[in-house]
This record gives sequence, structure tokens and C-alpha cells, in this order.
Amino acid sequence: MRENTIAVYGIGKVGGPLAAAFIRAGYNVIGVDVDREKIGMINDGVPILPNEPEVDKTFSEAIKNGTAIFTTDGKDASYNSKFKVITVPVFLIDKVPDFTALKSAINDIGSGMKEGDMISLESSVPPGTTRKQIIMHIERNLKIKVEKDFYVSYSPERIYEGRALKDIEENYPKIISGAGERSLKMASELYGKIAKKGTIKMSTLEAAEMEKLAEGVYRDVNIALANELALLCGKMKVDFWEVRNAANSQPYCNIHRPGAGVGGNCIPVYPYFLIYSANAIGSQFRLAEISRKINERMPVVVVSEFIERFIINKKSLKTATVLGLAFRGDVDDDRLSPTYEIISRLKSLQVNVKVHDPLIKSTNVDVYLTNDIKDALAGADGVIIATDHSSYKDLDYEKISNMTGNSPIVFDARGVLYGKPNIYVLGSIR
Ligand SMILES: NC(=O)c1ccc[n+]([C@@H]2O[C@H](COP(=O)([O-])OP(=O)(O)OC[C@H]3O[C@@H](n4cnc5c(N)ncnc54)[C@H](O)[C@@H]3O)[C@@H](O)[C@H]2O)c1
Repeated sequence: MRENTIAVYGIGKVGGPLAAAFIRAGYNVIGVDVDREKIGMINDGVPILPNEPEVDKTFSEAIKNGTAIFTTDGKDASYNSKFKVITVPVFLIDKVPDFTALKSAINDIGSGMKEGDMISLESSVPPGTTRKQIIMHIERNLKIKVEKDFYVSYSPERIYEGRALKDIEENYPKIISGAGERSLKMASELYGKIAKKGTIKMSTLEAAEMEKLAEGVYRDVNIALANELALLCGKMKVDFWEVRNAANSQPYCNIHRPGAGVGGNCIPVYPYFLIYSANAIGSQFRLAEISRKINERMPVVVVSEFIERFIINKKSLKTATVLGLAFRGDVDDDRLSPTYEIISRLKSLQVNVKVHDPLIKSTNVDVYLTNDIKDALAGADGVIIATDHSSYKDLDYEKISNMTGNSPIVFDARGVLYGKPNIYVLGSIR
């Protein structure tokens, strides 16, 4: 039983779908989370990831047939499992990585370790973390040796929220690495069972850690480039979107979409891991630094472009509606969403703000949030489209103005309504 049991630490956006994938592959799973309310919900059959197909259903069925349990007891989970997979977050405090959650999970795991057990880290981390925070810690504290008494791998998660389980099982090969040959072999067997596209074996733990961050910084830098190009095009009275479409017809060019900023727990965070790692060895990562600055300024830029349209049209702005709280279209995740900075800028200009999101039901921030777009738009003098939710693609000026009940200024920061009359689009010439 223990030989076939995996404890997953952190049942979040990554750990939830991953635990479901292991259950579906025939493993026994112990899902561990420090969030008591979340564990209670899972055990009561209440969905925790309603936007991720199959995950909640897999949990309910597995609890019923005894192939999964969900608990807050990480020590017991370690004692009863051979494999310990970690998906707890590593966040930033003042732009420096904070390993508190990881250290706490490692302490729980350490107290239940047995000979032959394996730890696999999936959280995104600065290169060197698996070696320093896991291997060295366990070797020092338990007086055991990696590759002889226990095994360690690093395997980054590459999901796209909203289709996470499919990504894990079908869409991408799984990147794996090990502390040595034995760990790598165990990782290959473990992940080979869930990833239909197989595994890509990296030569070192650090190479696998770096791979994940490289994917993230690639996106951040390219979004910064798109933002700068869009703003420059706007100033030069050149239509960015026309330029982008034409440029991307060439296979070596992939200009990204500009927007109100970059949110989520991944892309805005990973460049800082690399900047931190570079600084730690007396080096620099200037491109990542400048890209972060550009992307972090975008909500401010969007609000000033929006306000400028009111000045040009000699209109006054009392109430604005922001369409989209999620950091990206069609997800229910508002972590580090640029919409929050837009809200705060508008409020500082004494504008009443209402926010609509089709998927997010509540927020900790003091703002009027609704899932009803008619309610959100009623009475607005201005509208900012901040998120590219699919449902916004059907909008046009007439529909929006019918819902506001007046003739609002509409500023589309995501290019969702590009080409439709009377809509100002970031980077377009109107
Ligand atoms: N969300 C994504 O799209 C995505 C994609 C790839 C990689 N990642 C990475 O995966 C990691 C997790 O991200 P996430 O989005 O799933 O975060 P999340 O916040 O959705 O989930 C993390 C979970 O870990 C729990 N937790 C915290 N400390 C714990 C502990 N000591 N023991 C057990 N549980 C604990 C939290 O309560 C939470 O439920 C991060 O490193 C992130 O960068 C995320």
C-alpha cells in the first residue's frame, strides 16, 4: 500500500490537478494542505477547483472508493507514503523569494521519511533550491544520504489554468531531473505513468529549475516588448495590431499581445527569482529587470490613456467600469491581477469604480464586484476592458452603450474588440 502511495503537499491550482492525475493513473493519494477550510470542502464534496474539468469529480470518487484521503496532517501523510510531491508556493517578499511554505512542508516530510522514499519538488523556484532547501536539509537533519537512503527529483509544472489536468496528462512532455541516476530513474517511472507525451530528462536539478523560469521570463520579456511596441505605435499614429498581424505571418516572429499588465502567480514572479539568483552571484539580469518595470507600469499607462480620451472628447468621468478582474481570460484567478492597480489609480482620481468578472465571485479589495455585466455597466461614463475573457468578444459599442444608458468612452487594453467602431484600443490609431 505505502509503495503505491503519493502524498501531494499543497492542493492548489497545481497540486489539485496533479493529485487528480496521480489518482487517475492508479496511485493511492494523500492530499495535504494547511488550509483546513479547503480540506473540509474536499471531504464534504464541495468543489475547490470548479474551473478545472474533472478534478473535483475525481476527488469525490476517489474518497468514496478509498483511493484518496485529504488531510492537514503532513507528518502522517509522509509516514504513510513512499513518494512526496511538493507543490506549495514560493512567493516573493519585497521581491526576494520566501521559502516559508516550502520549509514547513519539508519539515513535515522529514518527520515521516523512511528509507527508500522519494521527494519530488514541483513548485517553481530559484535554481539551487532543491539542493539547498531539500537535499542538504534532509541529509543534515536526518543523517541520511541522498541516492543511497532517499531520492530527490525536481520536476516543474507547466499547466495552463483552466485545462490543467489535460496539460499534465496529455499536452506536454514532463520535464524531470534527479539528484543522481537512481532519483532520475524513479522520477521517470513516477511521471511516465501520468504524462502521455513522456518525459524530458534534464542533466541536473538546476537545469530543470532554470527551464521553468526561462519559460516564464520569455513570456514576460516578450509581453514587455509588445507593450512598448504598442505604445510607440500609438504615439506614431501607426496601428500596432495591423503591424503585429503582418509581422507574425513570418515564422520567426511571434509578437505577443500587449495588455494592462502581467498578473498571476507565475510570470510576474519568476523574473525576480532570476534577478535574485543573478545578484546572489554578483551578476545581473538587466533584460528581466527592465521588462518587469515596463509591465508593472502598464496599469498606470492604461489609466492615463483612458483619461486622455476623456480630455480629448471634453467629457467628464465620474463612474468607470472595469471589465475583468482575472489576470487572464477565462480563468477565475485574480492573484497579482493588474486590474487591482487600475482600480486603485481610478479611485485616487476620485472616480467611482465598478468591476465585472464572469468567473470571480468575490475579492478582498474594497470595490463593487459583480458577475452581472448589465449591473456593472449601468451608469458608467467610461469602460476599461482589462481581461480578455471570451465572453467580452461578443461586445460592441452599441451593446455597451445600451447597458451603460449613455455614450461612454470605451478603452480596450487587451485588443479584444479591435476593429469594432467607436472603441479605443491600446496601440491602435484611434
Ligand atoms: N498556477 C499555475 O498556473 C502554475 C503553473 C506552473 C507552476 N506553478 C507553481 O506551482 C506552485 C504552486 O502554485 P499554485 O498556483 O498551485 O498555488 P496555490 O496557492 O493555488 O496552491 C498552493 C497550496 O499550498 C498550500 N500550502 C501552503 N503551505 C503549505 C504547506 N506547508 N503544506 C501543505 N500545503 C501548503 C496552500 O494552502 C495552497 O492551497 C508555485 O510555485 C507556482 O509558481 C503554478
